[in-house]
This record gives sequence, structure tokens and C-alpha cells, in this order.
Amino acid sequence: MSEKPVCLILGAGAGIGGHVGKKFANEGYHTVLVRRSDEGGLNRLIADIEAAGGTASGRLLNAIEDNAIEDLIADVENNEGPIEVVLFNLGAQFGDRTLEDTSYKIFELGWRMTSFALFRVAKTLAPIMQARGGGKILVTSATSAMRGNAGQHAHAAAIGGRRMLCQSLNAELSIKGIHICHIYIDAPIEAPDTLGRLLGDELYQKLLDEKANGKDGMVIPEKVAETYYHIAHQHRSAWTSEVDIRPFSEQPWWNN
Ligand SMILES: NC(=O)c1ccc[n+]([C@@H]2O[C@H](COP(=O)([O-])OP(=O)(O)OC[C@H]3O[C@@H](n4cnc5c(N)ncnc54)[C@H](OP(=O)(O)O)[C@@H]3O)[C@@H](O)[C@H]2O)c1
Repeated sequence: MSEKPVCLILGAGAGIGGHVGKKFANEGYHTVLVRRSDEGGLNRLIADIEAAGGTASGRLLNAIEDNAIEDLIADVENNEGPIEVVLFNLGAQFGDRTLEDTSYKIFELGWRMTSFALFRVAKTLAPIMQARGGGKILVTSATSAMRGNAGQHAHAAAIGGRRMLCQSLNAELSIKGIHICHIYIDAPIEAPDTLGRLLGDELYQKLLDEKANGKDGMVIPEKVAETYYHIAHQHRSAWTSEVDIRPFSEQPWWNN
């Protein structure tokens, strides 16, 4: 059991999830990092946090399996301590797929990963947070939550619905002390475990060469982690329920 407040990161890769975990650990939280498959990546994140003087623990699990989220929350509450902040960082970007190439299974999977999984987190954790007087639920989102597009049937429907879920949760829970923020990233992120995998090594490297490495044209997870930390520590008289983030060189989608 940790003496520190606990920050749970659901979806902790080398991008946003890992860096938000590092930031909260640097600021005195015990961070619990959860990802699906990459044990080496998980151990590297924990080692980085410990080398910087913080504390962290981890779990490998597939969040969409039956009871995975419910058991995880109970396990963390019992072993690490009360969860003060949860970052829901699961996305469901399958790449562009025509209607013909979007199977029922893929469509449903998008909903399970992003919308239903957040519902399960809220349903399990909100009563516990409420009994303690409050908590923070931060949700990473993407452009498709705001505007559908060709090829984005499964993704946009899932995360557009999730945005409405965030608003509905806020309407019911903010008065109970639980702050929910929908943080949508309207640009590519320097995220090797998600965007890197989706594009493949060659295309991802090309994108980094064009937009990153000093050009600041992709979202840098370490920088955006500052925003997540700030949102989780706002005074309740001034809560942000939604925020958009993009690099200086990108136009908002509504200007394009
Ligand atoms: N990457 C982008 O360009 C981009 C752009 C806009 C918005 N976003 C949003 O950013 C969020 C992700 O952040 P990120 O891209 O920086 O990624 P990240 O934090 O580097 O990694 C996310 C991690 O989630 C884990 N994960 C995926 N499915 C899971 C499941 N079913 N159970 C448990 N863990 C699971 C993966 O673990 P494993 O690696 O172990 O499978 C992955 O490493 C998503 O909400 C996405 O919509 C991303």
C-alpha cells in the first residue's frame, strides 16, 4: 500500500500514457501503469520513474476482457491505495477503412475499447471516489470525436459517443466532486506504440523527419503531460471539462 495518492493510467505506452504517468510520479503520486502486451515497455517506464526518484507499479492486461477493468480497480485500491486520478487513454484507431472493410466485429471493438470501457471505469470507480469526496477522470480523445470522416466509421462513432458519455458523466458527477475532462488531441502524437505501429517503421520515421525532431509539428507527450497535470489540479470553481490540443503549426479542423 502506498502512502502517496494513486494515479492509474489505463493505456500506458511510450506516448501520452507513459508521459502522464511520469509527470504524476514526479509530482508525488504513486503511478499504476496498465498496458496490454509489452512487458519490456512497461518495465522501462517503471524503471524511468524510479530512476527519477518516483514510485510506480504496473499491470499487463487486456482492458476489454470481461471483468478486467472491474478487477483492476479493486486490485489497485487494495494493493496500491485509493485512486485519486485515473487517465483513460485507450484509443481505437484502426486506420482508414471503407464501409465495406469495416466489419461488424471491428465496429463493435471500437465501441468496446473506447466507449464501453470508459463506462465500466466510471461505473466501478465513481461510487468509490464519491464516497471519498471526489476524484479526477481524465480522458484522452482525438479529432474523430468532433468530426467524422471517410474511413473513420468505427473510430468516430466510438469516440464521438464517448465524448457525449464524458458530458453525461460530468453532468451527474461534478456536483459529487468528480472532475471529468475530455482532452482531445487534434494532431498526430510522437507515440511509437500507437501511431508508430499503425503507420509502420518507414512511414512513422518519415512523419518524424517532416514534423518532429525540433520542428514541434507533432504533439510531444512529455509537454502535453503538463496540461493533464494542471487539469487534474484545477480549483473546483474553474474546472475544464473539455480541451483541444494541437501544435502551433496545425490548423484546427474547423478552419480546413
Ligand atoms: N497517437 C496519435 O497520433 C494520437 C492522435 C490523437 C489522439 N490520440 C489518442 O491518444 C490516446 C493514446 O495515446 P498515445 O497514442 O500517446 O498512446 P500511448 O500512451 O503511447 O499508448 C497507449 C497504450 O494503450 C495500450 N492499450 C491499447 N489497447 C489496450 C487494451 N485493450 N487494454 C490495455 N491496454 C491497451 C497499448 O498497450 P500495448 O502497447 O501494450 O498494446 C498502448 O501502448 C488515445 O486515446 C488516442 O485516441 C492519439
